[in-house]
Amino acid sequence: MRRRVAPSILAADFGRLREQVREVVDAGAEVIHVDIMDGHFVPTFSMGPKAVEALREFDVVLDIHLMVDRPERHVATFASAGATNITMHFEATPHVHYAVHAILDAGCTAGVAITPSTPVEALSEIRGDVWSVLCMTVNPGWGGQQFIPASLDKIRRLRELIGPDVELEVDGGIDTDTAGPCAEAGASLFVAGTSVFGSPDPGAAFRQVAARAGCS
Ligand code: DX5
Ligand code: ZN
Repeated sequence: MRRRVAPSILAADFGRLREQVREVVDAGAEVIHVDIMDGHFVPTFSMGPKAVEALREFDVVLDIHLMVDRPERHVATFASAGATNITMHFEATPHVHYAVHAILDAGCTAGVAITPSTPVEALSEIRGDVWSVLCMTVNPGWGGQQFIPASLDKIRRLRELIGPDVELEVDGGIDTDTAGPCAEAGASLFVAGTSVFGSPDPGAAFRQVAARAGCS
């Protein structure tokens, strides 16, 4: 499976969002990660469907990470805003199968995310239905946190569980130091916020993280 870096716009300058996304797309980004936070599932707020709409002009995979309670209630909103893939949290609803199928019925691919304390086995019954699984490598809700080292072993066990054909996305604290070890452990999609948009040259920073992740 090809490895790819997905810049996370949470760390971008929102006043220059299009310009900043253009820089990373010109540098080769094929996937853009958009974090949606509701002040309930996570204590913070971030952005909503209008941010997704603003990015639909780019010819990229719009990877929407819903950190919201009861994500099944919001699938239609984000699908019509232009989402390509919608990832919801295992911990955010008792009806994961229903939510995943609502995403598929809306015409998107689906992903399921797990927080650092959720065991990989939580994904065993749903792995056949999803395009991606997302392993949080920090606690969800904030950018700029330190990568949790125990994630590496979890990534290995996740890859074993899902097999070679499902995207294994890592999210949180991914930079030029952590991308390589995550790649070795089996990750294929590397979300990078601060390490890309926190740089004065996001395009160059994107290329550096991608090189360390072994992207081709
Ligand atoms: C955190 C979000 C991440 C965030 C990562 O809850 O899911 O996608 O943007 O930010 P960095 O790369 O700064 O850790
Ligand atoms: Zn995210």
